[in-house]
Amino acid sequence: MLTNLKAQPADALLALIKLHNADPREDKIDLGVGVYRTDTGATPVFAAVKAAERKLLETQVSKAYLGPEGDMGFVHALMPHVFGAADPSKGGRIDGMQAPGGTGAVRLAVGLAKKAGISRILMGTPSWPNHAQIAADVGITIKGFNHATKAGVADMAALREAIASAEPTDAIMLHGCCHNPTGIDYTPAEWDEIAGLLAAKGLLPILDLAYQGLGKGMEEDAYGVRRVLAAVPEALIAYSCDKNFGYYRDRVGALYIMLADPAEMAAVMSNGHALARACWSMPPDHGGAVVRLVLEDAALTAAWLSELDDMRARMNEVRAKLGAAGVAGSVDMTPFGGQNGLFSIVPLSPEQVLAMREKHGVYMAGSGRINVAGLTVGNIDRFIAAVADVTK
Ligand code: LMR
Repeated sequence: MLTNLKAQPADALLALIKLHNADPREDKIDLGVGVYRTDTGATPVFAAVKAAERKLLETQVSKAYLGPEGDMGFVHALMPHVFGAADPSKGGRIDGMQAPGGTGAVRLAVGLAKKAGISRILMGTPSWPNHAQIAADVGITIKGFNHATKAGVADMAALREAIASAEPTDAIMLHGCCHNPTGIDYTPAEWDEIAGLLAAKGLLPILDLAYQGLGKGMEEDAYGVRRVLAAVPEALIAYSCDKNFGYYRDRVGALYIMLADPAEMAAVMSNGHALARACWSMPPDHGGAVVRLVLEDAALTAAWLSELDDMRARMNEVRAKLGAAGVAGSVDMTPFGGQNGLFSIVPLSPEQVLAMREKHGVYMAGSGRINVAGLTVGNIDRFIAAVADVTK
């Protein structure tokens, strides 16, 4: 039976990690998978996380099962940061459960949407490739609309049209901030409009917030999510701590559900628990417990937020340098300066992306997406020269 299975292509983004690791060139540049890097190319563990890990090691008395919802102390401690310090649960209308990373949270959100009767998700494209893979695996169709215009701003006309033509069994997937892969986010005024359109249409939002704090700031990056939640009766929010706590491989995320009536929460949430039980039974505990310990301690929280500020400042410096580079070959670098988060798309053909890798040792996704955090004072000029070379 098993040989009936056809070979699947390796996930292109994850395959890039292996290709990069196998490249012996010392001056290779990794702009592939979305992990933060320092100016020396390292992805260190946050000091606040290390301190909380030590605390966990000393104080944890049991590793007995917690249940499919995971560590609810973690889930609740995060809520003021995501939904705002004043009434983060909106009078009990929002609650959540822990998930293995943002991917686990998206998986739960899409699975719950399907169980609730959603048959199609509207989604700006390009998007994070795993959104479409998860939807396909769950058995939900994606209807794409154009995310950004050639001028490098959100394509509001395409979004308006997608919302206007939505069917009653559609949901819409929106990136809360730091759009992956374009780095092109909605402005606050655009979020205001989107919130109104979603409310008027009665369209279920699935909000993916995977990079809070890596764009403009923790509060600023939550604007869109909070604005939409203030307007609509119900929503699903997939949250990742993998980037803003540097927890990548330990997989820390949460699914939040907002309902119109808190009295319905237990019944709706029980479906999330059932889905989790069938998928992974219980989320891995370690990262969630550590994030909880950080957030329960004012000094550790301040240390974490300050480390996040430093990361964002470095990325903004890199973006400013890219933006100031002007035109490299046929690529105008100026827009990269004003984009948000880890990613931007360099408009290169697949052949040019290959030439970047083979000739210049620059690893980037096939879409032309770069992780700007992979650029440092030591390699940014070489990157710009490589783009100029392959597009000359
Ligand atoms: C990325 O897009 O690079 C990250 O979200 C990592 C991942 O899991 O794809």
